[in-house]
Amino acid sequence: MGALPIYVGEMKILVVGSGGREHALVETLRRSSREPEILCAPGNAGIAQAARVKPISADTLPGVQAIVELGKAERVDLVVIGPEAPLVLGLANALESAGIKVFGPRKEAARLEGSKAFTKEFLARHSIPTAAFHVFEEVAAARAHVEHVPLPVVLKADGLAAGKGVIVARTRTEALAAVETILVEKRFGEAGSRLVVEEFLPGSELSLLIVTDGESFVALETAQDYKPVFDGDQGPNTGGMGCYSPYYRLDDPVIQLALERIVRPTLKGLSKDGIQFRGLLYVGLMLTARGPEVLEFNVRFGDPETQVILSRLQSDLVELFERTIEGRLQGYKPVWDARHSVCVVATSGGYPDRHKTGLEIQGLHEAAATNVRIFHGATTLAPDGRVLTAGGRVLGVTALGETREEARDQAYSAMKKLHFEGIHYRRDIGSRGRYTARGQ
Ligand code: AMP
Ligand code: GLY
Repeated sequence: MGALPIYVGEMKILVVGSGGREHALVETLRRSSREPEILCAPGNAGIAQAARVKPISADTLPGVQAIVELGKAERVDLVVIGPEAPLVLGLANALESAGIKVFGPRKEAARLEGSKAFTKEFLARHSIPTAAFHVFEEVAAARAHVEHVPLPVVLKADGLAAGKGVIVARTRTEALAAVETILVEKRFGEAGSRLVVEEFLPGSELSLLIVTDGESFVALETAQDYKPVFDGDQGPNTGGMGCYSPYYRLDDPVIQLALERIVRPTLKGLSKDGIQFRGLLYVGLMLTARGPEVLEFNVRFGDPETQVILSRLQSDLVELFERTIEGRLQGYKPVWDARHSVCVVATSGGYPDRHKTGLEIQGLHEAAATNVRIFHGATTLAPDGRVLTAGGRVLGVTALGETREEARDQAYSAMKKLHFEGIHYRRDIGSRGRYTARGQ
């Protein structure tokens, strides 16, 4: 007699983070046939409806240690790390050392997001297409450079700045002001001790998310993110104001070119440099007349890309994570919902600058509809049960539809029913891009 199949359905998963991305991860993991019990630290008001939340943030070294202790105490089978900060601090390393399985790269690999200068040098070393660049620590040298570079020009704080540390300067005055903001005023803190000044790339942006076990990789369905805060891509950059998926189909020549010219050489470059990458590599691309070029790497799922991409995933996310960790990705093809998804983000008025928090959110029940998911970002539950705003990106209203237009209409109808003082969202999410009809 062969071994009996052991199916106990008692898997425990800890998701680290508190945004819309983590809410989408929690909801997708809940759909797994493994029926996992899900914990989330620290979570938010929406996640608290779907998982057991623990008030621990992994954004500091003591926080990282506290997550490891939680993982041990709860005997979790798998930790999924949502945000970049714990990855850069070495949470994956610490969990591995404690014998806990983790989805997310070690800190050596997380430098691809933790330092833009490191990434630009990596790209240059491996001849991977990216904008021409210079790195500065000295203010005078940066000013002198910016005095004569062609405009527009892009100025980036080297370190982590939650998507906000990039300034696209269209005039000389703006470029000089950006040097002051990043290097002198240190608006983005220590992230701005180094400044990357790079060539402006005209084109269309594409978020290509790759899951890799260090050898093989799987490309997830594509998405397009809207970074600037106002309609028509006006105003400062944010973490992401909305997204839709699919953008290009995976078999489109544009994607094949991006895999050939960028993804494969990147994975080869990492292994040549002795850096093992296991987890999700987010490749931020500009599709230029010269072909696809790298804008940035992130070492984790995108937000709000995750909300639109995972809404379309039909395969078991636990299986994808386990295959990655165990080095079994080769030949694996996730199954996708052919429908389109659109996510519109509602932010606090004033974001990405100063904004109020603690405001009551109304309409959450009224906005609920078939094919619409309201992923919570910066929300918190008041003791009296009211849901309050707690930061910049508050809600990600995500809808599925046969066409992108249908998904878009559904997301905006739901959004109209939501309210908090100062609520802001873009009105043009999903209204540009190439594919609109189902499966096209
Ligand atoms: P990053 O965090 O480096 O992806 O930059 C944030 C956003 O700034 C990108 O998503 C683009 O919209 C814009 N951006 C960054 N670098 C460039 C560039 N070289 N040319 C044009 N736009 C850029
Ligand atoms: N939406 C862009 C990011 O996650 O970095």
